Amino acid sequence: MSGSAHRPKPDLSTPEARRAGAILSIDLSAVVSNWKTCATQSQTAECAAVVKAASYGVGAERAAPALKNAGCKTFFVATIGEGIHLREVLGDGPAIHIFNGLMDGAERDFIEYDLIPVLNSLDEIDAWRAFCTGVGEPLPCDIHVDTGMSRLGLPPDEVQRVMDDGERLTHLNLNVLMSHLAIAEAPDKPMNKAQLDMFEKFGKLFPAARLSLANSSGIFLGPEFHYDVLRPGAALYGVNPTPGRPNPMAQVVRLQAKILQLRTIDTPQSVGYGATYRAQGPTRIATVAVGYADGLSRHLSNAGVAYIGDHEAPIAGRVSMDLITLDVSGVPEELSRPGMLVDLIGPNNPVDVVAEKAGTIGYEVLTSLGARYHRVYL
Ligand SMILES: Cc1ncc(COP(=O)(O)O)c(C=O)c1O
Repeated sequence: MSGSAHRPKPDLSTPEARRAGAILSIDLSAVVSNWKTCATQSQTAECAAVVKAASYGVGAERAAPALKNAGCKTFFVATIGEGIHLREVLGDGPAIHIFNGLMDGAERDFIEYDLIPVLNSLDEIDAWRAFCTGVGEPLPCDIHVDTGMSRLGLPPDEVQRVMDDGERLTHLNLNVLMSHLAIAEAPDKPMNKAQLDMFEKFGKLFPAARLSLANSSGIFLGPEFHYDVLRPGAALYGVNPTPGRPNPMAQVVRLQAKILQLRTIDTPQSVGYGATYRAQGPTRIATVAVGYADGLSRHLSNAGVAYIGDHEAPIAGRVSMDLITLDVSGVPEELSRPGMLVDLIGPNNPVDVVAEKAGTIGYEVLTSLGARYHRVYL
């Protein structure tokens, strides 16, 4: 929760803020401070920033320029479309790498928008070589080697085939050799060391490349995982890269929703769809203007907790499309009137806590943040 206590307040007096059912405030100084926290874990490695999926939902057109201004020179996104958008946002200069690699027929985009493909297979290496030969220039690329994810990247036998055929790497302007950790958030798992050992071996085969292994949690596994380029994503946006230990990251996101109505129930009665919540005695129910259409998981039905100041207000009944109902019986009446704000993500219920109650991870909570929120960048 570090960083939440002194965060600036959003301006709620604008027409957009008045109209909206909920205010999503995004603290860009927290994003920058999180990037610096990651960067300072290593004495020598360059700290890049992963800004795919709209900077994990917080908005790449705001987060990426803030990071660029703070000194970040290297960005990773997933798709070519994200790369093109980011180039338009950032202008010339920063390196933009595309995790998902080449797409048949889209090769020219890499030249036009100055993007670097992460080549994920032998076929992609051959296609990029052929393309570079065609344009008469060894354009930069990365290679992804698979050390245990079984997802993208060259598996060990394909790496061997690259080495066996020396021709394959000629005309290739290799920038970063990367791999991705499967379980870095669990430092005790032997798989981390196994991936490290395999990557160490592969790295020696590509002496000209810069090496990159660590995602957010990988950075906190120790210096042997750092190599030349750090690739944090989630930690930049406040997700704890060291689960089970205090979060070294500042909270970036606060979601405050408005109370639309207050209902006082004094006879036993159900609340919401499916009648899954039953108020037994006198209960005050606040209806709040956020639902699953805004990305608030339906798994929070009868499970999530909102806060009004430090007062807990459990979600009572099912999350519906545009609304939730909160049991505010324990909240002073003067704090729970229509028009007042409740924290759905905030100092008392940060992203990771909301995620746990929804049975998911902070990454999904962030990337689900809805389009109807009024966004305020602080
Ligand atoms: C290849 C790769 N590197 C780095 C990252 C960043 O990971 P994290 O968000 O855990 O820091 C991702 C995210 O999924 C990724 O796919």
